[in-house]
This record gives sequence, C-alpha cells and structure tokens, in this order.
Amino acid sequence: MKVVAFIGSARKNGNTATVVKQILAGSQSKGATTEVFYLHDYNIKPCQGCRYCEERNRCKITDDDVPVLHQAIIASDAIILGTPTYYGDITGQFKQFVDRCYPFCQIVTDGKGKMEFYSILPQRKLGILVAISGSMGPEVLDSHIKVAGHCFNDINAEFWRKILVPYTTWTPVTADHPVMATAFKTGEELVEAIANKKDG
Ligand SMILES: Cc1cc2nc3c(=O)[nH]c(=O)nc-3n(C[C@H](O)[C@H](O)[C@H](O)COP(=O)(O)O)c2cc1C
Repeated sequence: MKVVAFIGSARKNGNTATVVKQILAGSQSKGATTEVFYLHDYNIKPCQGCRYCEERNRCKITDDDVPVLHQAIIASDAIILGTPTYYGDITGQFKQFVDRCYPFCQIVTDGKGKMEFYSILPQRKLGILVAISGSMGPEVLDSHIKVAGHCFNDINAEFWRKILVPYTTWTPVTADHPVMATAFKTGEELVEAIANKKDG
C-alpha cells in the first residue's frame, strides 16, 4: 500500500510539510509505504495549453521531471496534496503541478456544449488536501479546495479528507499544535480506508 504526497512549499520543515509528514507517519505506523515529493525540487515546466493531451492522454512536454511525478501518481493508493497560501491562493509551484495533471483527464462531450471530466486512470485512490494560511482565515482556503477537487477528479481520487490550518503566522505548526493529533489519526485511518476499499 503506497501513500504519496506532493508539497507545494519549498520549506521542508515548514507548516505544510510538518502536517503532511505527520499524516504519513500515521500511515507508516499502520504499515503503509510513503513517499514525499517537494515540488520545488523538480523541474516542472508550465502547461503550454497546446491541448495535445486532450487527444492523446499524454503530455507533449517530455524533457522535464513531470513523468517521474506522474509515475508516482499512477503507482499510488492514496495521494496527499499540500499547499500553503501565497497571495490569497495556492502557490505557483503547486498550480504548475496541478495544470500538468491534465493528461490524466478524459473529456466526454455531448457536442452541445455539455462537458464531463473523468480520469483515464483505472485505479480509484483516496485523496487528502492539506491547506495552510498565514494571516488570513479559513475562507481563503476555498480556492485550494476547489483546485484540489479538480485535480483529484482527474487522477481518479475520491476527495476523502481535508485538513485546513489557518493563522500559522500566530500559531505555527509545532509538535504540540492540535492539528498534529488529527493528522496522525488521519494517516492511520487512511490505511484502514484503503484496506476496506481493496477488500470491497
Ligand atoms: C510570498 C508569500 C505570500 C503569502 N501570502 C499569504 C496570503 O495571501 N495569505 C495568508 O494567509 N498567508 C500568506 N502567506 C503566509 C503563508 O501562507 C504561511 O506562512 C504558511 O504557513 C507557509 O507555509 P509553509 O511553512 O508550509 O511554507 C504568504 C507567504 C509567502 C512567502
């Protein structure tokens, strides 16, 4: 069982990473294998909007690190997306990654303007969002939830849980932050939920 996390902050011991790693620790304690990708460490070119992938379900850009990230998505049972807030929204590195998940999307249109979006990935996964803000309240995280929802749809993940942590400017995520207990438990429960899905 594999749980994979993508983090849209360069701060490896920052608030987002601390919460995500705590979820992974919970999953590891129940026997899962985990892997973290700090998007900042990867060369992720921006989507060029060529729509090549809409016909072929693969990206025209092949000379960056996105294929490595795509492979990790394909091989996972659960995905954690983590992003802080920059300028009232998700971070640029996180958006760049999400846009490049478009090749996993299957568009079905009725020819009369109605479009539906599915995933080409056969294996259903579970998805968790970790969204963090500094000085703004939880309402700023609505856009993070919306974007994560689109991404989870395209990679065939059920939007299973979200952990929202506002106001880190005043209450940074440290070992005794209340979210740490929630995050560990979420990681444990994630493994049980994946196991139940596999049984079912
Ligand atoms: C460039 C930049 C822009 C930011 N913009 C916002 C913002 O608009 N609203 C907010 O609440 N926090 C903002 N923050 C604060 C971060 O969201 C906050 O410090 C967060 O905990 C950082 O997460 P990290 O420790 O995982 O990197 C900003 C931080 C940076 C560096």
